[in-house]
Amino acid sequence: MSHSSALTISNISKHYQDGGRQIEVLRDLSLSVAAGESLSVTGPSGSGKSTLLNLLAGLLELDNGDITLQLKDATFSYRAASERARTALRRQHIGYVFQFFNLVPTLTVLENVRLPARLNRRPELEAQAEALLRDFGLSDRFHDFPEALSGGEQQRVAVARAVLLKPPLLLADEPTGNLDAENSAQVSDLLFASCRDQNITLVLATHSNEVAGMADTQLHLDARSSSRSAP
Ligand SMILES: Nc1ncnc2c1ncn2[C@@H]1O[C@H](COP(=O)(O)OP(=O)(O)OP(=O)(O)O)[C@@H](O)[C@H]1O
Ligand SMILES: [Mg+2]
Repeated sequence: MSHSSALTISNISKHYQDGGRQIEVLRDLSLSVAAGESLSVTGPSGSGKSTLLNLLAGLLELDNGDITLQLKDATFSYRAASERARTALRRQHIGYVFQFFNLVPTLTVLENVRLPARLNRRPELEAQAEALLRDFGLSDRFHDFPEALSGGEQQRVAVARAVLLKPPLLLADEPTGNLDAENSAQVSDLLFASCRDQNITLVLATHSNEVAGMADTQLHLDARSSSRSAP
């Protein structure tokens, strides 16, 4: 097994422009995460957790520095990539779990989990959707629609959907932010265990110290470092 980093963040910065104001969110951040390991991101509201995850998802462009993600047979450099290439990366190689589950309401539980296999034309993975749902304790919910499920159940479906393709990178933005303590523990256990077992690198933003503490490495972002007025 290789011990080289799966994910490398090198001297990245990100600011937003808000009218005449320049809002610096991330400044000169560097770190790396090995394949199958986990990183938690904590920090006060507005400190840049979602910004970091959106950069890792390829949804935002870097101001400076680079992010590289090790794929099976290539290293993907975010800085060098077009928006189109980043979209393809996101669809094929990144799983995402959100605070509010984001299941497709018109699809059943099973159809939701199979969706990444459909979109990526990987029919051989469709059968695994059922196995994952069984493992996650949802064997009797295959044909229900998301609205019939509790929050904890919906989030287990979302985790199954995010790991189906065994992506090299899984991003989770406050995945337990809308769950009670019992469901939070259950979902975070599933998320960390699934990623570790399948060698998926996990980056997870959370307000929960308990969930953050489950990660191999913890990053704490401080309150927004600075903001200054443009001339
Ligand atoms: N599109 C945008 N335009 C301008 N400012 C933005 C934009 N998106 C985010 N910001 C600002 O950047 C800062 C970081 O936001 P971000 O959403 O990354 O924080 P967060 O740590 O995820 O917070 P929370 O814990 O509330 O989710 C905040 O001050 C926010 O207002
Ligand atoms: Mg956020």
